[in-house]
Amino acid sequence: MARKAAIIGGGVIGGGWAARFLLNGWDVAVFDPDPQAERKISEVLANARASLPALSDIPMPSEGLLSFAGTITEAVEGADYVQESVSERLELKHRVFAQIQQSAPNVLIGSSTSGFKPSELQERAANPGSIFVAHPFNPVYLLPLAEVVPSPQNPPEAVERAKDILRDIGMFPLHVRKEIDAHIADRFLEAVWREALWLVKDGIATTEEIDEAIRMGFGLRWGQMGLFETYRVAGGEAGMKHFMAQFGPCLQWPWTKLTDVPEFNDELVDLIAGQSDAQSGHHTIRELERIRDSNLIGFLRALKDRNWGAGKVLRAHDDKRKAALHAEGKIGDGAPLVMAHLRVLPGWIDYNGHMTESRYLFAGSETCDNFLRLIGADMDYVAGGHSYYTAESHVMHLDEAKLGDALTGTVQVLGADEKRLHLFLSILKDGAPVATVEQILLHVDMKAGKSCPAAPEVLAKLMPIAEAHKALPRPEAVGRHVGQRKS
Ligand SMILES: NC(=O)c1ccc[n+]([C@@H]2O[C@H](COP(=O)([O-])OP(=O)(O)OC[C@H]3O[C@@H](n4cnc5c(N)ncnc54)[C@H](O)[C@@H]3O)[C@@H](O)[C@H]2O)c1
Repeated sequence: MARKAAIIGGGVIGGGWAARFLLNGWDVAVFDPDPQAERKISEVLANARASLPALSDIPMPSEGLLSFAGTITEAVEGADYVQESVSERLELKHRVFAQIQQSAPNVLIGSSTSGFKPSELQERAANPGSIFVAHPFNPVYLLPLAEVVPSPQNPPEAVERAKDILRDIGMFPLHVRKEIDAHIADRFLEAVWREALWLVKDGIATTEEIDEAIRMGFGLRWGQMGLFETYRVAGGEAGMKHFMAQFGPCLQWPWTKLTDVPEFNDELVDLIAGQSDAQSGHHTIRELERIRDSNLIGFLRALKDRNWGAGKVLRAHDDKRKAALHAEGKIGDGAPLVMAHLRVLPGWIDYNGHMTESRYLFAGSETCDNFLRLIGADMDYVAGGHSYYTAESHVMHLDEAKLGDALTGTVQVLGADEKRLHLFLSILKDGAPVATVEQILLHVDMKAGKSCPAAPEVLAKLMPIAEAHKALPRPEAVGRHVGQRKS
């Protein structure tokens, strides 16, 4: 049975949490008195549906059920976890915790607060030990970080349980060991923000020039190595000590105005808002969100390919879900197996605006790889010296796929023996094929460089699937040759 999360406060952040839980198979009940909350959440959810599945290399779980509750009591009933994301006002958060704990005294309550310490949140609570900070980053459905900040009042096992729940929805819980205002990440963001305000106020740079300074250079480095690892590399062969000796003294120079705050008057606000309009006003916020999301997917996919940084979290999440998928003993009774969900990304589009030819085969190969993982011919198996090699593929291009289209890859086993695997892959858009790929794969002893029987444990998973698929209708396209007329 699906687990249930209650989301209290459904704005930018609450909507992101709702989407992340739902797309990871949790049921979600939202409470937010704003009459616009349902519309706002559906927009965030649409963005999440269009992006998050593109990070996964195995089928996403079935989406959970979304409901909107009329009261906090209704929302938290039967909830395994509560995430509070109401506006950043301490007295409001206290009121909300009191209402939650009246109905569900022991449920774990993560707070999205950007600045309050957990001990402040816990003041006067009926059960302070179940309230802690779980601070996410926008867009919550794509960025894995959640700073988990407990106070000494939180039992360690409750904190571990919360971290497990966050991992279950693909997040990276960073355990902040000592509570502090604004946790870790927002301290940096505030420092950078403060510095940027001075640069604009003093007429040194516009908002656009500041953004270029970040996104053309150090912002790219930070996204993959962070601060210290980046500086270690910057120190060259002599490393971190050399770097510190070189750049340490300049900390004493008046490079920054970090400790001073510029006066936040109308003049400064108008100056920044005006420059920001000139920079980005030709896009709506929804457009900017979609641009941001597709860029993030590109970055995150690159990191996933390299098993580095946030990409490692994505891989670990896939591995965990893969184990669950295999445990189901899925064989696809009565229908081909759904093995991949893909999203057509900007780099897949060619000059005529459609998905480029090679990506149809790529989609087939992702689908096939997931099937091979399902039967146990995964990376560990390859490391042991055995693999399936593709001997032949026949791709039929049946329809156009465009940027952002959601594609599903299915596998039908046409035949299998100890050494050979005959597959029919369909790449579907809205249930209809945009391409099919018929493939013959050979099981290979990689060291010997020749075919050999697959391991018994692989055959034990493969053969029941092949047997079940014998009952499926044989696709018309099987056995086609190039140039044959379509019937
Ligand atoms: N915006 C960000 O980038 C960001 C990032 C991380 C964390 N946060 C934190 O997340 C929390 C929410 O921020 P946001 O940006 O989503 O704000 P928001 O204004 O978009 O959303 C807040 C929502 O809370 C609702 N609300 C108000 N009173 C309520 C009540 N009594 N019960 C239920 N809902 C209620 C409002 O109607 C609104 O929809 C804050 O604590 C903030 O510090 C924000």
